Amino acid sequence: MRKAAILITGANGEIGHGLIRALQDTADVPVVALDIQEVDPALRPALHENIVGNILDQNVLDSINSRYELSAIYHLAALLSTRAEFSPKIAHQVNVDGTLNLLTLAVDQARSQGRPVKFFFPSSLAVYGIPDLETKLKAGAVKEDDFLFPQTMYGCNKLYCELLGTYHARYYQRLAADAGTFRVDFRSIRFPGLISAVTLPAGGTSDYASEMVHAAAQGIPYDCFIREDGVMPFMTMPDAIRAIGEIMAAPVERLSRRVYNITAFSPSAAELRQIILTHFPRAEIGFKVDDRRQDIVDSWPVEVDQSAAREDWGWQPADDLESAFSGYLVPAIKERYRH
Ligand SMILES: NC(=O)c1ccc[n+]([C@@H]2O[C@H](COP(=O)([O-])OP(=O)(O)OC[C@H]3O[C@@H](n4cnc5c(N)ncnc54)[C@H](O)[C@@H]3O)[C@@H](O)[C@H]2O)c1
Repeated sequence: MRKAAILITGANGEIGHGLIRALQDTADVPVVALDIQEVDPALRPALHENIVGNILDQNVLDSINSRYELSAIYHLAALLSTRAEFSPKIAHQVNVDGTLNLLTLAVDQARSQGRPVKFFFPSSLAVYGIPDLETKLKAGAVKEDDFLFPQTMYGCNKLYCELLGTYHARYYQRLAADAGTFRVDFRSIRFPGLISAVTLPAGGTSDYASEMVHAAAQGIPYDCFIREDGVMPFMTMPDAIRAIGEIMAAPVERLSRRVYNITAFSPSAAELRQIILTHFPRAEIGFKVDDRRQDIVDSWPVEVDQSAAREDWGWQPADDLESAFSGYLVPAIKERYRH
């Protein structure tokens, strides 16, 4: 008999760390982790099984399918934006083919269980591609369906996977006689840049915010690769994890769409430096701009419109810029580097 479980792919990543801790307190069935790397030993007590494997390996997915009855899949595994730009074909394989593999697993599970399987997909504001800086600064809070012309491989991958997921939720094999009996309950959030006190990002274009504060806490000089007036939306990791819990718990009939924007605050890189200096006055933060990464940030919105998430599932970020630093990041980061 198959064992009831929840599956998290990319479990060893930044979001995986926070999500596993949250599910440890809330999940009613065991959590199974899949990652191409060994999962952090600190997370293992919270896991029923820790599978080291590739989402592109069908044998790994078949084994999961035969041993578990999955009520939900949190598909986090991906190659992030900067890495994807260096290896676009591999990014497409991991980000798109990998996501299709997991959606197919969800279909197989739904078919055998006779009920939809919930599927969480973390998208990104990299799906946006605003043509120039002037338009970006004039655009205001950008809605879900505007400016969908991504300028990175990662953004293209995310946008297509949003569509693939929506297709699997609404139309999958719509011509089949039993259509509708094996649909995937796909739910996706477009996250802004996420800042965590406990993990450091690697390979994303928004990494400068986390790198700045972690360097300051360790007394290490840091050169930001984005211009002082470079601006994009951010959010703390605890808010992001809470959002995942809320969208997954929302009754499906409340969801007017399958993909939602959310955000919390949009500081410029100079404002980030300033707030870090108020907490770490000796921090040495300079600017050594990488024009190519700057161009990517310039194609992303200053702010996104999150009214649909507010209306449909009651979303409200807990932290603004001030409280993100004074209430969460600074105390937790000081604790992390105390020794
Ligand atoms: N962190 C952010 O700011 C942010 C913002 C928007 C969206 N997202 C999305 O959230 C998800 C998780 O992000 P994160 O910050 O935790 O990323 P991360 O890079 O920290 O973690 C990704 C994990 O996926 C694993 N992985 C990569 N390729 C794999 C493969 N082929 N098979 C199995 N595992 C594989 C990696 O080993 C890693 O542990 C990603 O889909 C990312 O695109 C993140």
